[in-house]
Amino acid sequence: MRFLEACRRRRTDATPVWFMRQAGRYMPEYRRLREKYGLLELCERPALAAEAALQPVRAFEVDAAIVFADILLPVRPMGVGLRFAQGEGPALSPPVRTDKDVKALRVFDPQEDLGFVLEAVRLLRKELDGKVPVIGFAGAPFTVAAYLIEGRPSRDFRRTKMMMRGAPALWDRLMSKLAKVTSDYLKGQIRAGAQAVQLFESWAGALTRQEYVRHAAPYSREVLGALSGMGVPVLHFGAGTAPFLEDFRDADGDVVGVDEKIPLDEAWRRIGYGRAIQGNLAPQRMLLGRPQLKKAVVDILRRAEGRPGHIFNLGHGILPETPADNVRAVAEWVHERSS
Ligand code: CP3
Repeated sequence: MRFLEACRRRRTDATPVWFMRQAGRYMPEYRRLREKYGLLELCERPALAAEAALQPVRAFEVDAAIVFADILLPVRPMGVGLRFAQGEGPALSPPVRTDKDVKALRVFDPQEDLGFVLEAVRLLRKELDGKVPVIGFAGAPFTVAAYLIEGRPSRDFRRTKMMMRGAPALWDRLMSKLAKVTSDYLKGQIRAGAQAVQLFESWAGALTRQEYVRHAAPYSREVLGALSGMGVPVLHFGAGTAPFLEDFRDADGDVVGVDEKIPLDEAWRRIGYGRAIQGNLAPQRMLLGRPQLKKAVVDILRRAEGRPGHIFNLGHGILPETPADNVRAVAEWVHERSS
């Protein structure tokens, strides 16, 4: 399977491609599912989750399926309420801000408390029958901590930074719990059949280099290290990592995912050719007309220089406004142009 080969930097017949958040509202099939079921309901019912994950695989030439879940699912068994309000993004309550709040967080057993995700992985694996691999995923400790502390998406991460800088011992206890939960959860997904896993550090860009190195990287390294003996490739994606890409790379992972704020050739040079790279078409470009979109795709392939170990993807999650026909076209162009 070309996605797995590319993770290991082996030469493939064509560059593999998939799209972060490839199951979602830009697809009419997905919107039809969502008319009947809430997001959390889709995640909790393995047959529905498998169906959502299969939709993009049926519709486009993507080279991987990602299990349908959310990076915030683990907060519920930890004891924090989670809601997805229409158009507002996630809301978590009560937020985690004091010593008592951190102590109350439960380190849970994924078999018991997120068994539906593991079951979705098993089902998906069975239904795909070797056609394309299944990617499991989790949020990185810092990104999940930021949601837990702020309670919702934030612009300045004020409270998160207050804790990491003002109460470093408390921050360490929170992050250590998250690292443990995240490692166990990803190991569970691998045991259930995930053939690769991706750690999402979606909010890395909120941090300075010093903050990343001191307050986030050690815990991601703990998670990535715990997975190193599991025999599956590990992808480490971060948005906004250009100012400290070398430090992000050093937190580990077989594949480093980069956003669009840095040209792919420059990113790969800085990461070093001993790692595979994933990226990095700007999600906004997916809204362009065909000629301009094609130019952007070709430019990224040119920057990869045909080196083994490039996985084509977006720089961040696909936007809900994206025309599905553009997704189809990009996957086809990547395969055509690279083969
Ligand atoms: O194909 C897939 O990738 C679907 C599986 C998936 C979901 N969330 C389902 C989902 C994945 C990989 C995620 C990851 C995720 N979730 C991230 C990391 C990726 C990134 O974009 O940085 C983050 C930060 C979250 C948290 C989250 N979940 C937010 C901020 C939102 C609301 C924003 C929005 O688009 O409305 C969600 C909701 C969510 N999770 C949706 C989906 C398909 C939105 C669609 C819906 O409500 O049905």
